[in-house]
Amino acid sequence: MNETLTVLKERRSCRKFKPDMIKEEELAAVLEAGTYAATGKGRQSPIIIAVTDKELRDRISEENRKIGGWDEGFDPFYGAPVILIVLAQKDVPTHVYDGSLVMGNLMNAAQSLGLGNIWIHRAKEEFASDFGREILQKLGIEGEYEGIGHCALGYAAEPAKAAAPRKEHYVYRI
Ligand SMILES: Cc1cc2nc3c(=O)[nH]c(=O)nc-3n(C[C@H](O)[C@H](O)[C@H](O)COP(=O)(O)O)c2cc1C
Repeated sequence: MNETLTVLKERRSCRKFKPDMIKEEELAAVLEAGTYAATGKGRQSPIIIAVTDKELRDRISEENRKIGGWDEGFDPFYGAPVILIVLAQKDVPTHVYDGSLVMGNLMNAAQSLGLGNIWIHRAKEEFASDFGREILQKLGIEGEYEGIGHCALGYAAEPAKAAAPRKEHYVYRI
């Protein structure tokens, strides 16, 4: 198997991160990979907000926890020091597909560099609220964006688990 296929097959969600910040070149490489995802009609509808500021990261975690309905003290980002938030322009018909593909690129790029990564949900609710809108406003981002997902990123604090067996009848060939 070539290296790309190995990365695609071995990517697993990480649910325990070290607090250490990743290297700038690692972050830059993951982000760049995200920007090269295919998009409908090549419109590049998604944007990525890379959060490395601890205070903002903790506020997002708290917001996400509340939306998810977990008990106080739970960190839905599992201690990851970096959160990459993917949003996409609502007026582009393919925006959810575009943003999801960016998420895939981010996770697979992270895997290729040996970084722990996981898709964390509820970005849609976060960015439909005043909390999220304020973040966009502060960055000078105008227009209507839908939150697609968060890619939590960092150094894994536990070994990757084995993949669940693939279900039967996943693939049909004619
Ligand atoms: C759309 C989507 C949303 C997800 N949201 C969460 C989440 O909020 N919290 C979480 O712990 N894992 C989340 N995951 C990770 C999945 O639980 C994980 O991908 C799945 O269990 C398969 O495991 P694997 O990624 O190791 O192959 C999400 C994955 C996807 C694709």
